[in-house]
Amino acid sequence: MEHPDAVPCPYPHTSVDVDEVIFYQRGEFTSRRGVGPGSISFHPAGVPHGPHPGAYEASVGGTRTNEVAVMLDCFGALKATGAAGGVEDGGYEGSFVPR
Ligand SMILES: [Fe+2]
Repeated sequence: MEHPDAVPCPYPHTSVDVDEVIFYQRGEFTSRRGVGPGSISFHPAGVPHGPHPGAYEASVGGTRTNEVAVMLDCFGALKATGAAGGVEDGGYEGSFVPR
């Protein structure tokens, strides 16, 4: 991290200009439960998303994470294929809601 007061976990947000794709390669993922190596997330532009409830707050004071992921900000709109639909987590959108 660059700043001593930086928070390791991302906050809930909406990226209005880009579609976001994240490939999780290894480690213990700070922001989301149920994400493992090989997982991919896709957040189309304009769709609010973020960490699981409590993950951001739990990361305050942390100085590092133990995870490797690759994030792509895509300025051209992406379209999921039929194959992607076959592996989609049907309850994903509900994972942002506090329970
Ligand atoms: Fe994002």
